[in-house]
Amino acid sequence: MAPKHQAPRGTRDLLPGETERWQWAEDKARGVLERYGYREIRTPMFEDVELFARTSGESSDVVQKEMYRFKDLGDRDLALRPEGTAGVCRAYVEHGLGGRARIHRLWYMGPMFRYGRPQKGRFRQFSQIGAEIIGSAAPGADVEMIALFLDLFEAWGFRDLTVAVNSVGTPESRRAYGDALRAWLAPVRDKLSADSQQRLEVNPLRVLDTKIEDDLALLRDTSRGPLPRMIDVLDDDSRTHWEGVLDGLAALNIRHEVDHGLVRGLDYYTRTAFEVHDRSLGAQSALGGGGRYDGLIEALGGSSTPGVGFSIGLDRVLLVKEERGEAVPDRALEIYVVAMDSTRTDAIRLTRELRREFAVECDVEGRAIKAQLQAAGKSGARLAVILGEDETKQGNVAIKDLEGGAQDSVPRARLVEALRERLDAGRKAGSR
Ligand code: HAM
Repeated sequence: MAPKHQAPRGTRDLLPGETERWQWAEDKARGVLERYGYREIRTPMFEDVELFARTSGESSDVVQKEMYRFKDLGDRDLALRPEGTAGVCRAYVEHGLGGRARIHRLWYMGPMFRYGRPQKGRFRQFSQIGAEIIGSAAPGADVEMIALFLDLFEAWGFRDLTVAVNSVGTPESRRAYGDALRAWLAPVRDKLSADSQQRLEVNPLRVLDTKIEDDLALLRDTSRGPLPRMIDVLDDDSRTHWEGVLDGLAALNIRHEVDHGLVRGLDYYTRTAFEVHDRSLGAQSALGGGGRYDGLIEALGGSSTPGVGFSIGLDRVLLVKEERGEAVPDRALEIYVVAMDSTRTDAIRLTRELRREFAVECDVEGRAIKAQLQAAGKSGARLAVILGEDETKQGNVAIKDLEGGAQDSVPRARLVEALRERLDAGRKAGSR
């Protein structure tokens, strides 16, 4: 029988065993972000609905169909954040960060919420790691972002990823592109799905983002001439920028391919857009994506300030690693303290002392030594510290290697040092 209470649809509990995998991925990411000189920003998990409508776009799926929207008891119209960039830019304007430094490199990590039909790799609560450079319009900023984006994946063990890039121009060039796309699709307009027909009216670029197979076939059909390309209608500045980005990627030997159909699902993008996919995930294949958003801060009432950033879906990253059978470190327990009846109090004191430096567990139920040794064996700890009666009287302690089985005795005064040496030696052997 199903339990009476279950986690809401589209959400998950991460149990011990999984949380270690998450911590491993988060720690790796923190390391990379810090080495790139980015600083963490934390913004609220809910914001005014208006903030997301204004930035992600009234007609975007995220705002139209996926937002967890609610009224609080003060009748405020709020939403759980579906993404992080809007909140970061709101905070940037609210705290006048632009006045403190010209360029800000920021990162964030945390849960986002989108009401979609749950499926493989798609959750209603999911976790993103994101980064933003605010204050630079230079192509070098886009290139740094893409390099950071890929270096995060590399730190998680992904090799040879190819990043898909495109330019979505400016709102003006997008209008020109929308007209070209409408004209190109006009002869087959009636064959498009109702959804795509509506997109063609309201936000034509979004037609390229369709997942409907019949629509995709019409987009692939070149009998009416090739699909118009965004980069063919770019204004001069956007073209120069685009070329600067491509040159920068080439200079860093970053594997990339130009995807003329790449449009992104949120409305705030200008110029560069990029994504990384892993086909093993099926329909929800995007591991992460981002791009430039030069109009967003101004739209929030700030002074005109360019920005570029990305976010990566951590749930999907870990799903891919799991499917590939790639091991990530398990729990990090180091020591299990085992006591006799007569040394129990001593053992509890010692455990507390050792916990200042090591990951340590001990029995709290006064169980027999055999049960304690069994628990030590199952615990995943590398070493057992055994407080035997006679040894304790002589001022010694036994250390047992729970992997190899060897056991020896050390003077109590040397215990911490001996544990350090053995754990270090084990770490070195493990990392070889
Ligand atoms: P996004 O492409 O909407 O961009 O989301 C980024 C990533 O979040 C996706 O590639 C995917 O891995 C993950 N993701 C999105 N929805 C779900 C879901 N329902 N379940 C699991 N994972 C999901 C943004 O959010 C932008 N804020 C990125 C950005 C930052 N652009 C500029 N700066």
